[in-house]
Order: sequence, then structure tokens, then C-alpha cells
Amino acid sequence: MSAQQRTGLTVIVLAAGGGTRMKSKTMKVLHPIGGRSMIGHVLTAAQALDPEQVVAVVGHQREAVSAHIHASFPDVVLAVQEEQHGTGHAVRMAVEAVAEQRGQAISGTVLVAYGDTPLLRGDSLREFADEHEAAQRAVSILSGIVPDPFGYGRVLRNDEGDVEAIVEEKDASPEQREVREINSGILAFDAEFLREALPRIGNDNAKGEYYLTDTIALAREDGLTVGAHPIDDVMQTEGVNDRVQLARIGAELNRRIVEGWMREGVTVVDPATTWIDADVVLGADVTILPGTQLLGATVVAEDAVIGPDTTLKDCEIGSAATVVRTQGVLAVVGAEAIVGPFSYLRPGTILGTRGKIGGFVETKNAVIGDGAKVPHLSYVGDAEIGEGTNIGAGTIFANYDGVNKHRTKVGKHARTSSNNTFVAPIEIGDGAATGAGTVVREDVPPGALAVSSGPQRNIEGWAMAKRAGTAQASAAEIALAGRRDDDQGMAES
Ligand code: UD1
Ligand code: MG
Repeated sequence: MSAQQRTGLTVIVLAAGGGTRMKSKTMKVLHPIGGRSMIGHVLTAAQALDPEQVVAVVGHQREAVSAHIHASFPDVVLAVQEEQHGTGHAVRMAVEAVAEQRGQAISGTVLVAYGDTPLLRGDSLREFADEHEAAQRAVSILSGIVPDPFGYGRVLRNDEGDVEAIVEEKDASPEQREVREINSGILAFDAEFLREALPRIGNDNAKGEYYLTDTIALAREDGLTVGAHPIDDVMQTEGVNDRVQLARIGAELNRRIVEGWMREGVTVVDPATTWIDADVVLGADVTILPGTQLLGATVVAEDAVIGPDTTLKDCEIGSAATVVRTQGVLAVVGAEAIVGPFSYLRPGTILGTRGKIGGFVETKNAVIGDGAKVPHLSYVGDAEIGEGTNIGAGTIFANYDGVNKHRTKVGKHARTSSNNTFVAPIEIGDGAATGAGTVVREDVPPGALAVSSGPQRNIEGWAMAKRAGTAQASAAEIALAGRRDDDQGMAES
């Protein structure tokens, strides 16, 4: 069945458990991994199925989890499970929340997943749901064959290979513990069966919890069809319980993302030191050099070269731009522009086509026009620089008077000299120029040359008079004696 033919699909994501092994103030499912929260990955996978509704069951730290879900996934229905009495109880809370908040009972197919499995992909969920529906089962188990099944619920099959039940680790007999087919936790249900089975689940087991997995045996008792489908890529269903797993799954997620981009035509010189978040978008023939992190919603257009040792978060890089050893946040770099090495692009930086931000330059709220250049050792804050303008080395845009921030505007094709200070608010006109060391405190009209330091005055013989006996004075004496000899020689010739 295709998605359109479905009578209805609900995805329930369980996230009420505490995650104590993370030893964190932050709720487990809110920990970031690959640029999203852990639960963000699962909800994204769920939404890829275009379901009628996604329900998240929250409990521990439910204010924080609910706020996060509400902000990032506003369509998700929130179900509260005040106390965690087991997965069966949690799903019951979800079913009740839908009935209350949506005014109608869940129907069609219900998928249950957990909020701590960040590698889970939407296409895997879809394939599983399709198979479940095609087989017209009451319950389907997304199972996995693992070398070490310890801790998992085991899928029990009869001699014909038909699934009979799931038994939890703590309730399993020694023979049952030998079974290597495990319940990944992802289950698919016929909604009608689920609604009717949930109240029948008891808690007479080792943990005293209402096990969702008891629905398998209940379906069998009712003479309904159940089945299990082992997933090849078991890691997709692997949960994160502590920070060691967080790092391991994070590295695996990154490995998958980086590999995916290489298959799309991106050159990644060193996949091991390249980190790309899940929401980053890269164009064809982008080259990423070692030690590069592309984070958040960063977009890099084709033929751009990024790195080495560059971190860009929520940046937009134009085609064929070059960004070397740079830290950037919320910045836009135009096509064929050059940035770095050692540049710091802060939010609001917009560099035009073929523009340049060079070594040891920090920019913030700065619109730098097409072909304009800030090549060396400068701070450009709250500024607008027109096209084709060149800012001299060591220029400071003094934007802050200690109380307020002010803007500086430099026109087109201006040539400002080295070691200038632009004291905002000021405007430097099109085609204007400044002398070295100028402190610009007033507007400079178009085409004018601004100089602020007085004419140079040399006090002859100062070093010999004031620094007699020093290396400085003797160096000067030797140099002056040399000049006198030269002058004499010239006079004689
Ligand atoms: C569960 C399954 C087990 C499966 C394993 C896979 C049951 C009874 N057991 O066991 O078959 O092999 O997952 O990882 O379903 N949760 C709630 N509310 C609760 C209890 C749990 O929201 O009252 C959530 C947890 O936050 C977690 C998930 O459900 O995301 C699984 O709970 P957990 O306690 O880890 O179940 P397991 O014992 O690991
Ligand atoms: Mg678990």
C-alpha cells in the first residue's frame, strides 16, 4: 500500500523515561547529536512518513521536552505520562491523548518508536509500515539479529517459525535468553487491535510494568496474525543510554552523513575529521578539507572549497567561494569570494560576490559589497562597504561608544589606508580615500582624501641628545656619518 492509500497512520514516540545513565541536567532525548536533539531525529523520521499524526509521550522533565517539541515540531501531539509504568502504559497515554485532543479514536496503523534512537530513518519506518499493512497483521515487530542480545526483549518463535511472543530479559528462561532475535522496540499495530489490547495488558512480571510487548501474545490468543521483520541495519534502532554511546552513535551518524554527501558528489579529503550536521546542504563538487565542521542549517553551493580547520554554523556559502581556517556563524559568503585564513565571521556578515575577508579579520553585522576587500587585521562591525572598495590593513570600525552601537557606511570604490579608525556613525563617500593612520570622525565626501594626523615634524638629532650612549644613538650617528661621506663623495665626483 502506498502512503496515500493508508486509512490513517499514527506514529507514537516514547520519551517519558528519565535517562539517568546520561548523568545530565539535560533530559536524555534533548541532547544534541548531528545538529538536532536526539528526539528531533526520530520526529523528523516520523514526519517523513507524512502520517496523520505524530504523538510524543513525555514524562521526565516534561516542561523542557514539551517546549522543545512544541517549538521545533508544532504539529506533534503531546501526551503526558506522569509516572512511568512501562511501555504499554505509555502507549495507552498516547492513545488517550489523541482521543482527547483530536476528538477521535486512533485508526489505521500505529507505529511505536523511541525518542533515543537518532540513527532511525524515515524510509526504514515506511518500509516496515508497508510490510505490516501488506501482511494485514495485528502486530508487527521490527526485530534485529544481534550478537549480544543481553537486556533486550527476545522474539520467541514456534517450530514453524511463527512469532508467538516477546519475553523480556528479566522474565526470560535460560533457553529463551539464548535467542538472538531481539525486539528493537519499534512495533506496528492495527489501531483497532491496539486500542482493544492495551487495557488487557497486566503488570505481573519481573519489573511490575505494563509491557507493550505483551500485545504479541494477546494477538496470538485472539487468533490474529503477528510477525517480525529483522532489520539489516540494526544500528538504526540502537538507543543512546549514556555519553559513551552518545559519542559512538554521534560518530556513526556523522560517518553516514559524510558518506552520503560523498556519494552525492562532494569531495571530503578526510572523513574522520569532517563533521556535517544532518540539516546541512552541499552542492556538487564542493571540496571539504580536513578538520572542518559544517553545522546547523549551513548551505554550501557548488565548487566551493571549505577548510582546512573551519567551523561554519548556519552559514550560506556561494558557489566557488573559498573559506580557509575560519569560524563563521550566521554569515553569508558570496560566489567566488575568499575568506581566511583566520577570519571570524559573526552574525550578519554578508560578503558579496568575489569579495574578500582576509587574515585576522573579524566581521559582524557587516554588508561587504561585490568585489570589496577587507584583506588584513581588521574589525568590521555594524558596517556597509560598497562594491569594489578596499579597506586598508588594520582598520577598526569603532562601532561602540560605550553605550550604543553605531553604523559606518563606506561607499563604492573607496580606498582607505592602513591603520584607520572609523568612529561611527560616519559615512565615507564613493571614491573617497584616507591617509594612513587616519581617525575618521566626520563624514568624508565622495572623492575626497581624508587625513587626520598633523603634518610630520622631525626633531633632528633627538636620539643623540636624549639617548646619548645607547645603541639607538650610536646607530643614528653611524648612519648620519655615512650620509655625510656619501654627500662628500658626490660633491667630489
Ligand atoms: C524495551 C522493550 C524491549 C526491547 C527494548 C529495546 C518493553 C516492555 N520492552 O525494553 O522488548 O527489546 O525496549 O530497546 O517494551 N518509556 C516510557 N514510559 C515508560 C517506560 C518506557 O516513555 O513508562 C520509554 C523510555 O523512555 C524509552 C522506551 O520507552 O524510550 C523504552 O523503555 P525502556 O525502559 O528502555 O525499555 P527496555 O526495558 O529497554
Ligand atoms: Mg531500554
